[in-house]
Amino acid sequence: MNKCVLILAGGKGKRMKSDLPKVLHKVCGKEMINHVIDVMRKADFRDVNVIIGKGADQVKAATKDRNITYSFQGEQLGTGHAVMCAKDFLKDKDGIVAIFAGDAPLISDETVKKFIKFHEQGKYKATLLTSILEHPDGYGRIIRNSEDCVEKIVEHKDCSSEELTIKEVNAAMYCFDIKTLLRGLDKIKNDNAQKEYYLTDMIEIIRASGEKVGAIPINFEETLGVNSRVQLSEVESIMRKRINNRHMENGVTIIDPNCTYIGEDVQIERDTIIYPGNVIEGLSVIKKGCILYPNSRIVDSIIDDNVIIQSSVILESKIGKNTTVGPFAYIRPESNIGTEVRIGDFVEIKKSKIGDHTKVSHLTYIGDAEVGSDCNFGCGTVVVNYDGKEKHKTIIGNNSFIGCNTNLVSPVEVEDNTYIAAGSTITEKVPEGSLAIARAKQVNKKDWVSKKNLKK
Ligand code: UD1
Ligand code: CA
Repeated sequence: MNKCVLILAGGKGKRMKSDLPKVLHKVCGKEMINHVIDVMRKADFRDVNVIIGKGADQVKAATKDRNITYSFQGEQLGTGHAVMCAKDFLKDKDGIVAIFAGDAPLISDETVKKFIKFHEQGKYKATLLTSILEHPDGYGRIIRNSEDCVEKIVEHKDCSSEELTIKEVNAAMYCFDIKTLLRGLDKIKNDNAQKEYYLTDMIEIIRASGEKVGAIPINFEETLGVNSRVQLSEVESIMRKRINNRHMENGVTIIDPNCTYIGEDVQIERDTIIYPGNVIEGLSVIKKGCILYPNSRIVDSIIDDNVIIQSSVILESKIGKNTTVGPFAYIRPESNIGTEVRIGDFVEIKKSKIGDHTKVSHLTYIGDAEVGSDCNFGCGTVVVNYDGKEKHKTIIGNNSFIGCNTNLVSPVEVEDNTYIAAGSTITEKVPEGSLAIARAKQVNKKDWVSKKNLKK
């Protein structure tokens, strides 16, 4: 059967007290809306439409790589109104439309698949996911009839005191027959406590026309919606646990899973050991046998086998096999560090290539440079890549020894097999095989102290 999915992401998110649209708040490093879109993809939905309203441009920008379409809700008049705004998307379609909320990112693709199957096999006109919550405050309650069939959903604010005791709640995850939904939408009214058009009223409308509504209770964790910062942190900790457990099951050691923050799309290979305080985000890949000592942040980077990293920041870069990084190194975007390299303490590398076996052990800045293999950088080397207006490139050949406290004023080239004397400021090419000394010669003024009467 044809199927498509609507994701509601237009709401104000008042309870977040934020300038950012609610669905763009991140959980484990990824926006909630993108979690939901990615789950729908995994559950084989090709046709994904996101209903945007508050912060529409921001939501569009954050989802632009995900090949989806948008409907626009100008005024936020409720979840039913949001779906009305997607009429153009739905009008020529038949089959089923799933509807999910962009603020409930814990739903799994397995559950979504089961849900669709249940809806199809039961020949329901609408099916919903529910869960049992110990503290159902804020959620819509599921009202069942004497045959245990769902009759309607009553929003928390519209509940009688008796209805408030019901613990089965609406997850805001639905499957509808498209034609039935389109017919019913016009019947939704806003005569309720919030003066909103509730999508939840569709259930009563469908039941009134004598059609069947299905419901599946699922694990409450998958249904949790984020309305406040406290709920955001609860959802974050559930997802963090899920992700960390998956890596541990795959053979990764995580010393303290409560203090290890790994993004959903990160890949980690076996026998890597992760100490507390590490944050690994984006599309990072950590290969086999690495040791991540405490407190690094690694974003969109590829870390090859047996790399050791301590207390460092690595952004959009590659680190080769058996290399060590840190403590306190900063590897900025577009850097490519070779194998068996040593990047030591207080070293910053920006948009540079560092060849195999090169050592940059301490207090050094390398920017916009191409460095060969087997080089040694003395302490305090600075690649002077910026002249105040433009950035320039530095090229350093293989087997170069750069003395301590050298400045390499770019653009400049240092050829293979060279030495640079400590304290040099290099402004011209250093030809292959030579020693460059670029500093004032030392002068000793004999007896200067006593002549000046300065002896203590
Ligand atoms: C909704 C359900 C409630 C359910 C709960 C689960 C309704 C009326 N209520 O309540 O039964 O238990 O979710 O979390 O549907 N949105 C729009 N446009 C709007 C309003 C909301 O796009 O005009 C979007 C929001 O961005 C959000 C989603 O719809 O992603 C849910 O809206 P929210 O206001 O959080 O609904 P709840 O009050 O939580
Ligand atoms: Ca909500």
